[in-house]
Amino acid sequence: MTQALQIGVIGTGNIGTAHARSLAREVSGADVAWLYDADTSRATDLADEIGARLAPSVEHLVASSDAVVIASPDGLHPEQAMLCLDAQRPTLCEKPLAPTTEEAANVVAAEVDLGRRLISLGFMRRFDPGYVALKEGIPSVGRPLVVHNVHRNTSAPYGLDTALTLTNSAIHEFDINRWLLDDEYTSVQVVTGEPGPRTPDGQLDPLLVILTTRGGALVEIEVFMNAWYGYEVRCEIVASDGTLDMGDGSYITRRASRQVGHDVPELWLGRFEDAYRRQLQAWVDATLVGKTSGATAWDGLVATLSANAAVAAIGNGAVRIELPDRPALYA
Ligand SMILES: NC(=O)c1ccc[n+]([C@@H]2O[C@H](COP(=O)([O-])OP(=O)(O)OC[C@H]3O[C@@H](n4cnc5c(N)ncnc54)[C@H](O)[C@@H]3O)[C@@H](O)[C@H]2O)c1
Repeated sequence: MTQALQIGVIGTGNIGTAHARSLAREVSGADVAWLYDADTSRATDLADEIGARLAPSVEHLVASSDAVVIASPDGLHPEQAMLCLDAQRPTLCEKPLAPTTEEAANVVAAEVDLGRRLISLGFMRRFDPGYVALKEGIPSVGRPLVVHNVHRNTSAPYGLDTALTLTNSAIHEFDINRWLLDDEYTSVQVVTGEPGPRTPDGQLDPLLVILTTRGGALVEIEVFMNAWYGYEVRCEIVASDGTLDMGDGSYITRRASRQVGHDVPELWLGRFEDAYRRQLQAWVDATLVGKTSGATAWDGLVATLSANAAVAAIGNGAVRIELPDRPALYA
């Protein structure tokens, strides 16, 4: 029998805690051996709960673990991913790969130099049953012409900052639409309107992002970070011979008290719990046979580059998206 992977989790906040619990309790083939968080008290409580040990440093965790989950704040992802590449540890890095295109490109270059794919990116929507069904359904409706996306948060998780809306939140849409369409973007435009009532001065919310693709499709994304009523993600593909609508991902409709409806989750965990678990299981299964799973570091670079092009497009009309050549490692 193969021995369980000894995993180290860096960052034990919202998503690091959820991943560590899921790895410890739901995912087969793995144990959470090590935790590290700059705030030791957060990691201590979780370590007690799931029977993991506290690492004294990120370096110690990386050296002691078979594989690593990076769930620290965005700005730390590139340097921690580099540490994992130096130590040749399979790594599931939360999105984004990096806040800036340059940092993301440096991680890709380091992986290309290594000559081996070790990084999987936490774009868990690729494992969500709704998005998987959309992708599988495309041949039944013809050639995609337009994709409508809705991404609404109850409130901005890290404070409302317009650039962060694009590089941290809408980055999910930048990834999932090119995965759905198997296509690349050629331009991006950001349209802004009257700010919502909870938008701080100087920030923009909601936003409409409009992308064109090499294949000629239009991708439209409404991002509304302070929507207040709940967390909701929708996607509809309009194609040459029909449409596919993922709806809002809720599966149960309740009729009671003379009302019909369903709950709206407050957080992403409520909507994508299953996707996170499937992503972790796929990553552990792939790691055990020396592979990566889901999105690659290259996909992380393309998403970050696209999101930063959108930041540059605010107030500037359409901006072209030009990708570097895709290294053979990611063919
Ligand atoms: N895939 C998804 O849908 C999804 C959802 C939520 C968050 N995320 C990503 O996960 C990351 C973490 O988000 P979060 O919501 O859990 O944030 P969070 O603030 O709840 O947690 C981050 C944790 O990192 C710790 N930390 C700070 N500096 C550190 C360091 N030097 N080394 C190790 N840990 C350090 C903090 O103390 C905190 O506990 C972000 O990059 C975010 O974009 C992804």
